[in-house]
Amino acid sequence: MPQKTLSTGVAAKLLRSAKKVMKNAHAPYSSFRVGAAILLSNGKIFSGCNVENASYGMSNCAERTAIFSAVARLGPKIEIRAVSVVNDRGVPCSPCGACRQVIYEFGPDATIFFQGAAGPKQAHITELLPEGFRLQ
Ligand code: THU
Repeated sequence: MPQKTLSTGVAAKLLRSAKKVMKNAHAPYSSFRVGAAILLSNGKIFSGCNVENASYGMSNCAERTAIFSAVARLGPKIEIRAVSVVNDRGVPCSPCGACRQVIYEFGPDATIFFQGAAGPKQAHITELLPEGFRLQ
């Protein structure tokens, strides 16, 4: 699927937003801080960090924090155009499988910006999540 390009200014703003929110991460168990920012089709940006828990499975990834926060503010009719993900170690980090499915729910045409094995990378959500689930 062809990738829609973001203007350099918007892409930079999305990245800045992800870097800023990363500092709020609650990551005492993994010591791996993650920040994510999502760009909606209305131009608004929402951000989120990972929030871990002593009961590890209750932890929430940065991407889902950002998406849930946007839904809480604007309701479920949001459309995600792009997602930017950063971490405090500068290591490769693409959204986990669970987050891919959540991104797909609100952004079936979203572009994801993340750190790949060979540096910064962008990919369409359907490249990261082929055949994402949608309730028919
Ligand atoms: N994590 C994210 O927040 N986003 C990702 O894309 C990958 C992983 C978090 C979950 C957990 O708090 C920590 O990173 C280590 O897995």
